[in-house]
Amino acid sequence: MRVLGIETSCDETGIALFDTEKGLLAHDLYSQIAVHAEYGGVVPELASRDHVRKILPLIKEVVAKAGLQLSDIDGVAYTAGPGLVGALMVGASVGRALAYAWDVPAIGVHHMEGHLLAPMLEDTPPEFPFVALLVSGGHTQLVKVEGIGRYELLGESLDDAAGEAFDKAAKMLDLDYPGGPHVARLAEQGTVGRFTFPRPMIDRPGLDFSFSGLKTYTLNTVAEHKDGDGLPDDQTCADIARAFEEAVVSTLVIKCRRALEATGFKRLVIAGGVSANKRLRAELETALQKIGAQVFYARHEFCTDNGAMIAYAGAQRLAAGQNEGLAINVRPRWPLDTLPPL
Ligand code: KG4
Ligand code: ZN
Repeated sequence: MRVLGIETSCDETGIALFDTEKGLLAHDLYSQIAVHAEYGGVVPELASRDHVRKILPLIKEVVAKAGLQLSDIDGVAYTAGPGLVGALMVGASVGRALAYAWDVPAIGVHHMEGHLLAPMLEDTPPEFPFVALLVSGGHTQLVKVEGIGRYELLGESLDDAAGEAFDKAAKMLDLDYPGGPHVARLAEQGTVGRFTFPRPMIDRPGLDFSFSGLKTYTLNTVAEHKDGDGLPDDQTCADIARAFEEAVVSTLVIKCRRALEATGFKRLVIAGGVSANKRLRAELETALQKIGAQVFYARHEFCTDNGAMIAYAGAQRLAAGQNEGLAINVRPRWPLDTLPPL
């Protein structure tokens, strides 16, 4: 079954074609980063308009890249939530309308299920069951995964998401949006041990997270060290980035280890934009090796938003006979643990 995947939940238009027998056939992404950069964050109305402009040319391009005709497509999967309502509506209405015109089934995919399953596109995919750490711009969650649609929430952030914390730290250091990769790059030049930031909530039992205290701590450290032009000197900025990244990473590592111990599982999947973070990957690998567990993640371009993960997740559900009627439904808020099992 060949499935067209459409992702438009935020600021990337992602399109892909997944074949349940041959795997990923083609994919492409148009990023709106340049559109939103001057505002320091995503402007929802501009996002929706840009998706409208880019979605159809990108679909045509991806189908051509795969060497297929539109008539070769057997199903359509689009992100139905969570995300920005206007942006979601673009992908959902185009996806649902194309499926109607082509007389093929359509399905609305949960964006975080897409992220969670993205490592399945790699050569050595994880087997079920596993613990998933979902770390994106909007979510920080630990999930017990026993199969597709069999999700139990173990813990989540009580305030900011990990990616959001990276983005806010980046703003404090006058770095561009989205901040995660910029903070990570600057942190490489940081001096180890000059600052030690608090590891939020690690002394409390449980698997929830909180990043707002760390955000305030970072803001205060920037304020204490700023010189004349309102920012600390370059080296101090790098040292702060380093301490911030280390605090986030070691908090995530501690909670992941706890979640593996609690479930008795030996496999961890990390997914979402922050799973692209090199320090997080490296520290998890070291920590998990010690307890005989393994970490899995997607290739870099499939950690952040993309169409391939939506095509993959949608294809699994469509192939199992799940699909939707003609109504176009999007859900800006949508708990992951309410999805039906496969
Ligand atoms: O999954 P994603 O593309 O979009 C959402 O669904 O939110 O995640 C975007 C988030 C942003 O907050 C971005 O700063 C963060 O992922 N991010 C990173 C890195 N690359 C992206 N954070 C830390 N280190 C990175 N290398
Ligand atoms: Zn995402």
